[in-house]
Amino acid sequence: MFDCHCHILPGIDDGSKNVQMSLAMLDMEVRQGVEGIIFTPHFYADMNSPSTFLRRREKALQELEANLNLLPQVPDYILGSEVHYFRGMSRSEGIESLCIGNSNYILIEMPFRTWQPQFIDEIEEITDVLGLRVIIAHIERYFDQDRKLVKRIVDNPNLLIQCNAEFFLGRSANNALKFMKSGRIDLLGSDSHNLEHRRPNLIEAVPVMQKKDKKGALDHIDRVSRRIFEAAR
Ligand SMILES: [Fe+2]
Repeated sequence: MFDCHCHILPGIDDGSKNVQMSLAMLDMEVRQGVEGIIFTPHFYADMNSPSTFLRRREKALQELEANLNLLPQVPDYILGSEVHYFRGMSRSEGIESLCIGNSNYILIEMPFRTWQPQFIDEIEEITDVLGLRVIIAHIERYFDQDRKLVKRIVDNPNLLIQCNAEFFLGRSANNALKFMKSGRIDLLGSDSHNLEHRRPNLIEAVPVMQKKDKKGALDHIDRVSRRIFEAAR
C-alpha cells in the first residue's frame, strides 16, 4: 500500500502539529503495512511563493528526519505538495518545483466553490503546455459539482485521479465501490492530518475495496503508485 496524500510533515500546515505527532502517524502507517508515503503539505499561492514553501517544507522534513531513529521502522517516503488550484497556475513561475520528488507528477486540489469551465481549462493547460502529469486530489469531494465538468476530468486519460480512503468508509462506500469499478482510481491517500478523526486509515479502506475488486483496481493503484515513486527518485 502507498499513501499518496497526507499531511504528516510537522508544523507546516493544518496537519501534524509537531514531530511527536508525525512520528506517531508514521508508526501507524508502518503498522498498517504502508510501504511508501508521499508527504503532501498544502500549498496556497496567496500565502507562500513556491520557494518559500519549499524552504519551509525542507525545514519540516529535517526536523522529522532528526527524530526518525526513534521509530522501529520507517516507510519509504518522498516529498510532494498539495497545490491548491489558482487562476493562472499553468503560467505561474516555479509551479514545476511543486511536483512530487524529481517526477513531473503534481497533486492538485480543486476549488470547493462552484466550478467554472475555466478551472478545467487551466488544469488541461498544465498538462498540455507545461507537460506535467496532474493528479486530481480526492475527486470524490467534487461529485456534487457540475456533472459535465467532473466528467471532463474523469474522461481525460491524461489526468490521474486520487481518492481518499475515507470515501470507502461509511455512507459513501457504495458510491466509492461503483466509482472503483469504472477503473478510474489511480491513487489512494489517507489525507491524514492527525491521530484522531483524520488519522492514517488506508487499512480501513483496502479490505472494503478488496471484497468487490473484480477488475484489478487495487493492482492498478499499486502499479501507478510504484511508477510515481520510481519517477520521483
Ligand atoms: Fe489534503
